Amino acid sequence: MSQVTMTVNGKAASGEIEGRTLLVDFLRETLNLTGTHVGCDTSQCGACVVHVNGKAIKACTMFAAEAEGAEVKTIEGMANADGSLGTIQQAFQDHHGLQCGFCTPGMVMSAAALLQDNPKPSEAEIRDYLEGNLCRCTGYHNIIKAILAASGQDADAIAAE
Ligand code: FES
Ligand code: FES
Repeated sequence: MSQVTMTVNGKAASGEIEGRTLLVDFLRETLNLTGTHVGCDTSQCGACVVHVNGKAIKACTMFAAEAEGAEVKTIEGMANADGSLGTIQQAFQDHHGLQCGFCTPGMVMSAAALLQDNPKPSEAEIRDYLEGNLCRCTGYHNIIKAILAASGQDADAIAAE
């Protein structure tokens, strides 16, 4: 066992880990940040996406030890300071971008990373960026609408389903 220390959602966080402990397990089991989900064991679903030093990563593909000293942001860090939904979260709610919600944390974190790099993505760019996030419920249409809306664009400009 060894100690790892990182900043998570703006606060110092540390804990005991084994060398094999994945970042997603450290977040969920040690820090109790269970908003980051695990939806597969093959690194395909994207339910576990968080930001590490500003970049979206699948937290099941990284050892916790590799995040030593890093700035990590999870879905719990996406709300506004007063606890209300952040812009992207609100857009998902407004445009029915979720059903069961299992994929939603990863979708929101991927969307946030996209909008950071490309504040006004086209529909095609959004679809392309979400290649690594699987949603088993929505058919993606409303997720794309939500991200268009979150970027200040017309959600209804999306191509017909
Ligand atoms: S749990 Fe990480 S990609 Fe599925
Ligand atoms: S909302 Fe159910 S998996 Fe996406």
